[in-house]
Amino acid sequence: MIILKNDDEIEMMRISGRVTGSILYELRELIRPGISTMDIDRYTEGRIRSEGMIPSFKGYNDYPASACVSVNHEIVHGIPDEDRILEEGDIVSVDIGATYDGWVSDAARTYPVGNVSEEARRIIEVCRASFFGCLRYCIEGCRLTDIGHSIQRRAESAGYSVVRDFVGHGIGRDMHEDPQIKNYGPPGKGPQLLRGMALAIEPMINEGDYETEVLANNWTAVTSDGKLSAHYENTVIITGGEPEVITLDERDERGA
Ligand code: MF3
Ligand code: CO
Repeated sequence: MIILKNDDEIEMMRISGRVTGSILYELRELIRPGISTMDIDRYTEGRIRSEGMIPSFKGYNDYPASACVSVNHEIVHGIPDEDRILEEGDIVSVDIGATYDGWVSDAARTYPVGNVSEEARRIIEVCRASFFGCLRYCIEGCRLTDIGHSIQRRAESAGYSVVRDFVGHGIGRDMHEDPQIKNYGPPGKGPQLLRGMALAIEPMINEGDYETEVLANNWTAVTSDGKLSAHYENTVIITGGEPEVITLDERDERGA
């Protein structure tokens, strides 16, 4: 069942989303060669708590940290580690969530670490563009699978594969609500989009094949072929008009 949010509830989600978006923006400065993935987690948790909010991920299904930090061929759910030091040329995906008075926001970015290859820059950019491209379908009258279809077209036409084993989701009082949002598949199916829906839309795309494996820590998902993966996510509100992306910092780059 998809839970619609009223205006007061959306306002609470906006407050949460503003913090999530601004932290992801600030991380652009923190992320550089020599820092550990735990440094990213510490910064994230400190900033969320300094706003009087709660890190949504910590303790969720026993997840041990506030951020998921996934390097290079890691797709999602990388566990922060003091000993995992970022190196020049890496790409790092950071996924975070904040809970404000019970309302959750969820978003992710992939960052270059120092100077990165042209190919690394391109997968980051195509993943981001696949998110912004799908926004034209995030309107009343479109149907749920129009979103994933748009993402798949954009990613595959640029030569990337779309991860099948992880999906986007509705969000609100719970981080994961209905519906599941596949980043692939035929258009024109599933429920009609309605004003008041809150959706965490999160393309994950790979340089090689879409197959995944989960590491022995039971969390970290990696590409089976060891090639690069990128992730980009925002919490989006369906309105009577244009979609509202509530986890995008106003200083951040917009558009496809
Ligand atoms: N943010 C992830 C998602 O987009 C979920 C993180 S799982 C957690 O669905 F355990 F780390 F919280
Ligand atoms: Co999510």
